[in-house]
Amino acid sequence: MVTLKIDGESVTAPTGTSILEAARAAGIAVPTICWDPRIEPIGSCRLCLVEIQGYDELVTACQTEAKEGMWVTTHNAELDAYRRTELGWYAEHASAEDLIAHPDKELHRLMARFGIESAGCASPAKAIDASMPQIRVDMAKCIDCLRCVQICEEVQGASVWHEVGRGDESRIVPKHGDLLSEGACVACGACTDTCPTTALTDAGAMPADSWTRTTCPYCGVGCELDIGVAGDRIVAARPARDAPVNKGHACSKGRYAFGFTHSGDRQTQPLVRKGRAWEPASWDEALDHCAAQLAEVIGRHGPDAIGVLASSRSTNEDSYVAQKFARLAIGTNNIDCCARVCHTPTAAAMKAILGAGAATNSFDDIERASTILVAGANPSECHPVVGARIRRHVVANGAKLIVLDPRAQALSEIASVHLALKPGTDIPLINAMAHHIIASDLADKDFIAARLDEFDAFAAHVAQFPPDRVADICELDAADIRRAAEIYAGGGPAYAAHGLGLTEHVQGTEAVMALVNLALVTGNVGGPGRGVNPLRGQNNVQGTAHMGCDPGILTGAVALEEARGDFERAWGAELPKTPGRHLMKMIDAAAAGELKALVVIGYDILASLADEHETAKALAKLDCVIVIDLFMTRTAHEYGHVLLPAASSFEKEGTFMNAERRIQRVRKATQAPGAARADWDILCALARRMGCETGFDFPDPQAIWDEIRAVWPAAGGITYSRLEAGGIQWPCRGESDPGTEVLHASEFGHGPRARLRPIHYHPTTERTDADYPFLMSTGRNLYQFNVATMSGRSANALMRPTDTLDLAPADAARLALTDGELAQVESRYGSAILPVAIDERVVEGRAFATFHDTERAINRVTGPHRDRMVGAPEYKVTAVRIRPV
Ligand code: FES
Repeated sequence: MVTLKIDGESVTAPTGTSILEAARAAGIAVPTICWDPRIEPIGSCRLCLVEIQGYDELVTACQTEAKEGMWVTTHNAELDAYRRTELGWYAEHASAEDLIAHPDKELHRLMARFGIESAGCASPAKAIDASMPQIRVDMAKCIDCLRCVQICEEVQGASVWHEVGRGDESRIVPKHGDLLSEGACVACGACTDTCPTTALTDAGAMPADSWTRTTCPYCGVGCELDIGVAGDRIVAARPARDAPVNKGHACSKGRYAFGFTHSGDRQTQPLVRKGRAWEPASWDEALDHCAAQLAEVIGRHGPDAIGVLASSRSTNEDSYVAQKFARLAIGTNNIDCCARVCHTPTAAAMKAILGAGAATNSFDDIERASTILVAGANPSECHPVVGARIRRHVVANGAKLIVLDPRAQALSEIASVHLALKPGTDIPLINAMAHHIIASDLADKDFIAARLDEFDAFAAHVAQFPPDRVADICELDAADIRRAAEIYAGGGPAYAAHGLGLTEHVQGTEAVMALVNLALVTGNVGGPGRGVNPLRGQNNVQGTAHMGCDPGILTGAVALEEARGDFERAWGAELPKTPGRHLMKMIDAAAAGELKALVVIGYDILASLADEHETAKALAKLDCVIVIDLFMTRTAHEYGHVLLPAASSFEKEGTFMNAERRIQRVRKATQAPGAARADWDILCALARRMGCETGFDFPDPQAIWDEIRAVWPAAGGITYSRLEAGGIQWPCRGESDPGTEVLHASEFGHGPRARLRPIHYHPTTERTDADYPFLMSTGRNLYQFNVATMSGRSANALMRPTDTLDLAPADAARLALTDGELAQVESRYGSAILPVAIDERVVEGRAFATFHDTERAINRVTGPHRDRMVGAPEYKVTAVRIRPV
């Protein structure tokens, strides 16, 4: 620490702090224009000049380190006169209207503080660029501070903006093309967020009356956002600068895809189907109807004829109540959620080997790793804030990067090795890497001796996967496999991040086990920067499953039969004895006429599940489908009997659990429209109508959370009041426990030693042949999210209005298909028509399609195969044929 005097006040600050930061921490306001804590200070505006006793010249406070014993003056007549003159120049770039519309921009705040009026800046048409729907560019307002150039490069890892010309002639322009949309802009909004003028603003932005801190409703990264509300409408979303995950950054979904909240087609009133028509109903009428329908099914067929599907977009509190509702109000273990089709393979694999089905590390460990292995994930599109952190760490810090992905992607361009494996061949590839590591004496012998069992059997097993043989199976070069293995094991911590490219296969669970084996034999578990980390898809998918929305587990991811007694005592009721069906088995049971009713919360299963024709046939057989959602989804529209309007996460209180086990608060920023209610409130009301007088009488989400932490000791120390200061990662057993950044540091979840598992390769039966010559995988695009229930009703929809079928240029040429032309893609299970996107990232003989457009419905093409252990559908491998329409 250092102690110095600033404006006569004694100030103590950590060593290495700038004078500016030391002054601000002490509440002394030093004016700045070009400074932003997220980027390197370059000292271009010189507004922060200060005097230091004994120095001949004024210095910039943003670039000068605070030193012991300094005497600093930040304000005197001379300094403020200088600032006034400078601001007078800058004021030529501020119009009177801008000062009113954007009072928070730094230039405008300083002009108000120093009493400087607008010089009346006009914006000629050529200065305006509205080519991106999210970002408005008005370069007449640019003061050339370079913050946009820096933040794009240093935070997002892109170079969309650059400076041309010199001195007075210099100006900021898009690096590629005349318009912003012509370059590599991904609409992350970092440039508008940092711009101190109205040169770069959020399109259509309005001043907010109030700001509420909450957690993003999109992917599992868990970015904290400040939501701006004017009247009863959300008008802006800004990344929280002090958030541990996103650190002042966000992606296009977090920043701009909130418009669904006020979409005109939000459900605002319960609807009950009478014949084919929907009729509005009061809550009492709708809930009485639901209770009667469910009671009738129970009376006729028993409680196991009903299934409940919880939502991974709901809060932990909603999901806890959902599984309690299934088990106590209905009396069935038929409870599941969308984790079944994404990362249940991960949870099962990691629980089996490590004793905990969750990420071993924090996102902060990305920067602590020497090597990053991205397996079956495209973070730049699907988890963009993590993608940007990985990119920065590779480009700026020189970390090594290995990418396993059948397609090229933004990260593969900067990777040391990109293994574009044939879809479905992850297991032989990872086994071959393990074999090469062991054969090359690169395994971590100390870690193996101290913490692992059955190494010899494992080594003998992977010896059957020499890179030279596996190269053919995976359609790779053996030298690349060896190189990737050597880099991964080559010293320093290695951080693995994996996604659905690894899990959505017939051997998804086993592929994750293979990855865990690889991490273990190299000692890459249990330390900073070392670990296995699933990039969870939906905002609260980790939490919803962890709350017990899985037929075999209870809250805290404990096995039902192990914890039955504890929960029966806590809940004061017996738990159902019959093992539950998971999501896919519920669909099978519906098709077989054994399941009669389904409660579906925030999940458009008709559009989301693979092999849509079979899903549709199953749903058509149900006597009662109760949908709780924000919108009339395809599931509700085509097969629903009751639609209950739900509140979005912007409209309720609660918590989410992100992909790194961090519990974070969700806060109400605006009122739910009409009669929409939070899921927990709806389910509690329904449970009470079904005769559960106790156990469903929570006054608010905090009371639910308190019950959750009472039954889940590993979250016992996480209270709402502690969460006011920021998220906490479980395990956190007491209120003085800070939480756990890295799991398995000294012990695994089940004990001191882990057992390596030999993973055999059983290739999918889904094969290409002369009739179906292409292998198609499906996945996400940057601007949309899942089946676009939310993102499709936002500004982002303009960036990605439809799905595409991405083909290699040579394949498109052979099929006589041009960019944008419609093609029919047909599998053994069904067909769809999509516009073609010719994409050099796709390998010949393969195709890639997004799955956001429920009209295009690519899941009519995906097939019936499922993971051998947990039933996740094989979305990543479908043999198809393609022809022009
Ligand atoms: Fe220090 Fe601009 S803020 S020079």
